Amino acid sequence: MGEKANQSQKDITGFRPPEDFVRNAIVNDPDIYRRAEEDPESFWEENAGGIEWYRKWDRVLEWEPPHSKWFIGGKLNACYNCLDVNLDQHADKTAIIWEGENGDIRNYTYKELLEEVCRFANVLKGMGVKKGDIVTIYLPMIPEVVISMLACARIGAPHSVVFAAFSGDSLATRIGNANSRVLITCDGYSRRGKIIEQKNKVDDGIRSCGLIDQVIVVRHMGNEITMKDGRDIWWHEAMENSDSSCEPEVMDSEDMLFLMYTSGTTGKPKGIVHTTGGYMVTTQTTTKFVFDLKNEDIYWCTADCGWITGHSYLVYGPLSNGTTLVIYEGAPDYPDKDRYWDIIERHKVTILYTAPTAIRTFMKWGASWPQMHDISTLRLIGSVGEPINPGAWLWYHENIGMGRCPVVDTWWQTETGMIMISPLPGITTTKPGSATLPIPGIKAAVLDDKGNEVAPGQDGYLAILDPWPSMVRTVFGNEERFIETYWIKWDNKTYFAGDGAKKDEDGYFWIIGRVDDVIKVSGHRIGSAEFESILVSHPSVAEAGVVGKEDELRGEVIYSYVTLKSGIEESNELKKELTAYAEKNIGPFARPRQIIFSDDLPKTRSGKIMRRVLKAIANEKDPGDVSTLQDPAVVEMLKEKTRMLESA
Ligand code: WT7
Repeated sequence: MGEKANQSQKDITGFRPPEDFVRNAIVNDPDIYRRAEEDPESFWEENAGGIEWYRKWDRVLEWEPPHSKWFIGGKLNACYNCLDVNLDQHADKTAIIWEGENGDIRNYTYKELLEEVCRFANVLKGMGVKKGDIVTIYLPMIPEVVISMLACARIGAPHSVVFAAFSGDSLATRIGNANSRVLITCDGYSRRGKIIEQKNKVDDGIRSCGLIDQVIVVRHMGNEITMKDGRDIWWHEAMENSDSSCEPEVMDSEDMLFLMYTSGTTGKPKGIVHTTGGYMVTTQTTTKFVFDLKNEDIYWCTADCGWITGHSYLVYGPLSNGTTLVIYEGAPDYPDKDRYWDIIERHKVTILYTAPTAIRTFMKWGASWPQMHDISTLRLIGSVGEPINPGAWLWYHENIGMGRCPVVDTWWQTETGMIMISPLPGITTTKPGSATLPIPGIKAAVLDDKGNEVAPGQDGYLAILDPWPSMVRTVFGNEERFIETYWIKWDNKTYFAGDGAKKDEDGYFWIIGRVDDVIKVSGHRIGSAEFESILVSHPSVAEAGVVGKEDELRGEVIYSYVTLKSGIEESNELKKELTAYAEKNIGPFARPRQIIFSDDLPKTRSGKIMRRVLKAIANEKDPGDVSTLQDPAVVEMLKEKTRMLESA
């Protein structure tokens, strides 16, 4: 094969996919965009054929804005579609290649995974878990997290997976909101060779919420823990005599599949509700289309099951396509900075899906690390979670994709459930830094405050104009918040994504970042209000304003402006204490970069802290008109303090 055929061709507009990639791609006919646009319902209906239904739907869509129902009357089971359906052809195909941080490897074939899932489903049933009961899962990236999720899906119990690095308190808040009685966790897990005491965090956290009746504990690290009599049981003991077959529950298309908590603009995280039919159809379809997923692929998504990416593109999308997936427990720099490339070489990974912060970190470490390994099995690479700057995109394409792998920069959200804006690798000419175009069946636009489309090149708000099958159905227990957050901005039928964006002359989307009070630290979503409410719960703190500051590596970092209670002295010790306090209350990924003490904060006359002004100050930008502030002089004072930090 000639050089030319397998290198991406760079022309004036961007990178065209290599010819041989196009030839073999699952989707390579651009007509798909036209077909989907002309009749989106038929398009999704056609794709619903990839799922096995117990009963076919009566109607594809019912749209009573802002509420949608999809595949109405259809009956299915998500777990059945991830496992049982693969037994005919792929019973002995590897479903999961798991690698522990310490190098342990555990593989599961589809048949083995199904057996484990059924056994665990029976354990849950034996504990009295019924269809509709929400089960909380607080596990790191070990096979049991996937087994638990699928076991829940099998018996129709929605799961709520809480990111393992969250604190015990954050866990308790989520358990409380979901009203969960059963929790699945482990003794501990490994991070850079150190044991994180997961069970201790559980014991501390749930003491206060008093809801959990039963805790199932996976023995993973063997660290010493206390088992509470009558509440805690070991996973392996429960599994011992459990039957390895379990009939899947017949679920309605609109039954809840899972809850996923995410941060928003208020102090409390919101439970995003996803249902079964539409979600399964679109995660299966988009995994196939965007990653060009084939039977032989070894697919590695580095996301954690504690976030939506780990749900849609690690569990439900890939497994419902009968894929072999790689799961890695640990840190990318343990024992050394080549761990990812070592994993790719040893397991012959063909598709890699990771995050911009990781890519920028690899870039900082240097290309010599991937060069130590043969990563030539890769044929497609993806990015998700935050805007990827053109420099990082180009580095990724050149050094990991060898100038040959198409890069798919995928824009989507917890709320969308599925990838919404992304290249189709066998069709789309990519431009570094742009997520390119809405995928077939999705209509997106960049609007101004009034809901009018802005001109090419102008900043505006990213909006989704039509319903899609895996859209958020509501905020759990808080319908009002659902409406307020996503729908009232315009006309109650246009979805407000919370992101700023622009479109170029070619119709390509460039995502700028959040326009609401959500901070994205290394792709993790952290709410300003959530963070502030934690800081002000500290006995020394009177008021706090928390904003994101742009950061080359992490996208954004957290700047906290804090007013202390009268009589409390500013000190470095107190800064450290507050940092530790925030970390304990949320988790280590939310450590504030700076805590800035100040006697006053920029406030409106009614006393509301103006985060917009603080954000400008933190980023050393012009805060605009500050004449309406209670005390405009505060701005200069804070600017000075911030400048001093930068030069320190
Ligand atoms: C927010 C959603 C999507 C799953 C993981 C994060 C940002 C996500 C991109 C991208 C620019 C992106 C947006 C979005 N975001 N992907 N490719 N380019 N920004 O899910 O935690 O719900 O966060 O992540 O700001 O609103 P999430």
